[in-house]
Amino acid sequence: MTETEVSRRCLPASTLAARAAYVLRGNDTGTVITAAPKLYPHMWSWDAAFIAIGVAHLDVRRAVSELDTLLAAQWHNGMLPHIVYTEDTDYFPGPDRWGTHLAEHMPEHVRTSGICQPPVHAISVRRILDIGRRAGGSDRAAVEEFARRAWPSLYAWHRWLMRFRTPDETGLLAVVHGWESGMDNSPRWDEPYAAVRPAAELPPYARLDLGMVRDTAERPTDTEYDRYLWLIEEMRGVRYAPDEVVRESSFLVGDVFLSAIFAVSCQVLEELGTELGRPERELRELAGWAAAARAGVLASVDPATGMARDRDIRANAWLSARTVAGFAPLLCGGAPADREQALLDEFTGPGWCGYPGLIAGIPPSVSPADPGFLPRQYWRGPQWPVIGWMFGWAFARHGYSELAETMRAEGLRLTAAGEFGEYYEPFTGAALGSTGQSWTAAVVLDWLCHAE
Ligand code: SER
Repeated sequence: MTETEVSRRCLPASTLAARAAYVLRGNDTGTVITAAPKLYPHMWSWDAAFIAIGVAHLDVRRAVSELDTLLAAQWHNGMLPHIVYTEDTDYFPGPDRWGTHLAEHMPEHVRTSGICQPPVHAISVRRILDIGRRAGGSDRAAVEEFARRAWPSLYAWHRWLMRFRTPDETGLLAVVHGWESGMDNSPRWDEPYAAVRPAAELPPYARLDLGMVRDTAERPTDTEYDRYLWLIEEMRGVRYAPDEVVRESSFLVGDVFLSAIFAVSCQVLEELGTELGRPERELRELAGWAAAARAGVLASVDPATGMARDRDIRANAWLSARTVAGFAPLLCGGAPADREQALLDEFTGPGWCGYPGLIAGIPPSVSPADPGFLPRQYWRGPQWPVIGWMFGWAFARHGYSELAETMRAEGLRLTAAGEFGEYYEPFTGAALGSTGQSWTAAVVLDWLCHAE
């Protein structure tokens, strides 16, 4: 079958849901639902948050235990690590390469990476709580008990981000590695990565990811990987002490997308804390953190384009790559009404979701109108269903119910063939990267169960 024939296959909703459930069950090792069967045989932080939402539609207690596993790996200083390792050895870099056993704050009973990922976890806990409450009975009791238990850990996680990742006056939260953004090789990071110069001491390594995909051009390049690995050496050199990492890392960028997620997650956590009767001081802090991050996102907007911009803190410069992250203000809200409308028009218009010939109206990671657009290359062009889910969730929260419904319908159109790709070629709908990707199956289940 050709790519286009595959993409035209459109499974009935019940079959698609059954397949999504099958993928999630298949990737379940018992304690961890791996991010993907071969390419990613461990738990990833933001993947786990989305995976738990999907799993909650099948088994609320399994969703809870997934997040419990992640929270059990929280560092003593509050950081939620980006990878929690299983016993599998077919992924590089593994825990030995990170050398996180050198870190003062890593819990002893787990093996993790030494960086973090976007803080979508409060959003996940909120959604699972709602799903569990609707289920009623003992599910309801279990999920309510979990929310009470998880809240202080989430608060400590947000406090860590505020304490260690707001290094300048912009209000943006900073990342010290492109992997922290979740958008590893996005053009957003090309300029700051150009200043990362791996030295001769970079220990040799063999990439295992390239053997797991059909076409190696769908993955980041070797030059990019050298930089990814060099940053690990730098952090390992300071034993992951968060102040020193921020001081020393040759990559330090204020990330608008992560900051917008943080802002709205702080609000969600504050609302949940109010419901749970958490101390007033913590609730006030969360509201203050949300406001500061939101102000940072809104102040980053380029007056010429209306899009939010990342900030290269090392170079003291705004970054102008035009990627889906520019729509960050739509995630956190708060822009003046005329600017928000203009951004919504851009989002739905011919440069993005309405670009002629797209299989589905989900925002591509880079606009197809951009000269740097590469339709098959990871974060340089393909559509990622989970990004569509994030915007749909935010639209629903901010009262744009029609747009939220559009994201749901278009997300289902993109994924209707049932392979649950990691990402998709926007014009053929071909599933790229890994298939059987857990977070794709999870957001499809959530779309099908439509839990608004
Ligand atoms: N996404 C990264 C990878 O490709 C790790 O976070 O392995």
